[in-house]
Amino acid sequence: MSLRRIARLFRPHRGPLAVVVAVIAASSIVAMASPFLLRAVIDDALPHRDLPLLAWLAGGMVAVAAVTAALGVVQTWISTGVGQRVMHRLRTDVFAHLQRQSLGFFTRTRTGEVQSRITNDIGGMQTVVTSTATSIAANLTTVVATAVAMVALSWQLSLVTLVVLPPAILISRRVARMRRELTAARQRELADLNVTIEEGLSVDAAALHRTLGTGPALVERFTASSARLTDLELRSQLAGRWRMATMSVVFAAIPALIYLGAGLPWTVGELSIGTLVAFTSLQAGIFRPLSGLLDVGVQVASSLALFARIFEYQDLTVDIADPEHPVELGDVRGEVRIEGVTFTHPGGDRPAVDDVDLTIPAGTTLALVGETGSGKTTLGALVARLHDPDAGRITIDGVDLRDLRLADLARVVGVVSQETYLLHTTVRENLRAAKPDATDAEVEAAARAARIHDVVAALPEGYDTMVGARGHRFSGGEKQRIAIARTLLRDPRVLVLDEATSALDTETERAVQLALDDLARHRTTLTIAHRLSTVRHADRIAVLDHGRVVESGTHAELVDREGRYAALAA
Ligand SMILES: Nc1ncnc2c1ncn2[C@@H]1O[C@H](COP(=O)(O)OP(=O)(O)O)[C@@H](O)[C@H]1O
Ligand SMILES: [Mg+2]
Repeated sequence: MSLRRIARLFRPHRGPLAVVVAVIAASSIVAMASPFLLRAVIDDALPHRDLPLLAWLAGGMVAVAAVTAALGVVQTWISTGVGQRVMHRLRTDVFAHLQRQSLGFFTRTRTGEVQSRITNDIGGMQTVVTSTATSIAANLTTVVATAVAMVALSWQLSLVTLVVLPPAILISRRVARMRRELTAARQRELADLNVTIEEGLSVDAAALHRTLGTGPALVERFTASSARLTDLELRSQLAGRWRMATMSVVFAAIPALIYLGAGLPWTVGELSIGTLVAFTSLQAGIFRPLSGLLDVGVQVASSLALFARIFEYQDLTVDIADPEHPVELGDVRGEVRIEGVTFTHPGGDRPAVDDVDLTIPAGTTLALVGETGSGKTTLGALVARLHDPDAGRITIDGVDLRDLRLADLARVVGVVSQETYLLHTTVRENLRAAKPDATDAEVEAAARAARIHDVVAALPEGYDTMVGARGHRFSGGEKQRIAIARTLLRDPRVLVLDEATSALDTETERAVQLALDDLARHRTTLTIAHRLSTVRHADRIAVLDHGRVVESGTHAELVDREGRYAALAA
C-alpha cells in the first residue's frame, strides 16, 4: 500500500529516473571491463613483455575509471534533482493541507510536532529518495554485472563465494527490524524535542516559565529528551556497525579460501594466475554493493516509518473546505441569520452552542452577553466559519456559509478578538497582510481610524518598526488597535468583535472603543462584550446561558424585564 503510494510520488519524474537507471547500468557494465583487462595484463602482456598491449590495457583501465566517475556525477546530479523536487512537492502539499485544517486540529496538535514532521521527517526522506533509490539500482546492476563476470572468469570459484550469502542475509534481516523500530522511536523523540523547544523558547513560554519558576524543570525535560535521542542515535548507528564488521570478516575470509583452494594439489594448474587475481579483485568489489543491497531492506523500512508519518498528515480530511459549487456573492448587504445552530466542540461533553436562533439585520449591531463559558466565543467563531455547526445553519444574505468560497467568506466577515495575533514583521507588513495591495496612504488612513497612527508615527522607525515575536513590542491596547486597523483595511461587511476591549484598562478601552465604534458603523456587527457598558447602545442584545439564548431585546426592554440581563447589569 505505502510502496505504491511512494511510487506515485515519483511517477511524474519517470523520464529522468529512467535516465538514471540507464546511466547506472551503463557504468556497472563499463566497470566490469577492469578485471578482464587485469587478467590480460597478468596472463598476456607481462609474461610476454608485450609493451604496446600493456600500454593499451593500462590506458583502458584509466578510461574505465574516468567513464564510470563521469557517469557517477551525471547520475547524482539527476537523482538529487528528482529527490529534491519530490520533497519540495511533499513539503508544500503537507503545509497547504495542514493550513486548511480546522481549528480543532491545531487545538489537538502540539505546535512543535507539526514542525518536526514537516522538517525532520521530510528531511529524513531525502536519504531514501536520493540515495536509497539510486543505490538500489546501482548495487543491483553492480552485483549482477560482477556476478556475471565472476562466472565468466570461473564458475567453480563463484560457487565458493556463494557460501557467505546465507549468513549475510540472515544478519541483515535482523538488523532491518531493529533499525525500523529505532527510526520510528527517533522521529517521535525528535518531535518531542521540538515541542519542548516550542513550549520553552517562545516569548510567551519564556515569560510563563520565568514566573512559574519551571525553567530548571524545563531544562531537565529537554536534557532527558536529548539524552534519549543520543542513545537512540547511537543504537541505530551501532546496529549497522556490528553487522558490517561481521560481514567484512566473512568476506575477507573468501579470498583466503580461494587462494587456499587454488593451491590444493588437485586444482593446481587449472586456473591461470591472472584469473585468480582478477577474480579476487572482483570478489572484493562485490562486497560493498551486496551489503548495500542487503541494507536496502533496512533503509526502506526506516523510510517507510517516515513516509507513514507524513501520509498520516496528508490523509487528514479537511472538514472546512471550499464548496464544490460555490454561490457567487454579488453586493453584500450583510444580513446574518443564525438558524437552529447547535455545536459541540470535538471532545466536549455538551453543546457549547445549543439550538440558537438569532437574526442580525444588515448594518445593525447584536451584542452577546453571558457568563464565561456560556458559548459567546464559540458562536462568534461559527459566524466566521472557524467551525461548522453540527445542526442548523448560518446564512449571510440568505446564503449558507458552507456554500461560500472561503476567500469570499474571509472578505465578508472580519474578526477582532481578545487575543491579537501579530506576525513577526513590521507594523506596515502586519497591516498589509489584510490587503496586500494597500498603498502607504491607505495603511496610514486605517491606522488613523483605529487611533493607532500617532503611536506608530512616534516610534523611531515608524511603520517600519518590527512588532516583535507575537507583537510583544506593543501593549495590549496598541496591539488591539493594530488589529482593528488591519480589519479596517479588509473592510468587511460583517464584523465579529470578541471581547476586543476586555483586556484593556479603562483609559485604553475608551480609545479602542472609539475605534471599534467607527469600525462597526454601517456594518453588521456581532459584538461580544464583557463589560455591559459597551453594549447598551447595541440595536439588540442577546443573553446566552449554557449555549442557549435565554433573553433578547434592547437594553431598555431587558432592564425592564428584570431577568438575567438585569441581574448581570446590577
Ligand atoms: N476548543 C475547545 N474544545 C473543547 N471545549 C471548548 C473549546 N473551546 C471552548 N470550549 C467549551 O465550550 C464552552 C463555551 O466556551 P466559549 O465559547 O469560549 O465561552 P465564552 O466565550 O462565553 O466564555 C465552554 O464550556 C468551553 O469549556
Ligand atoms: Mg469567550
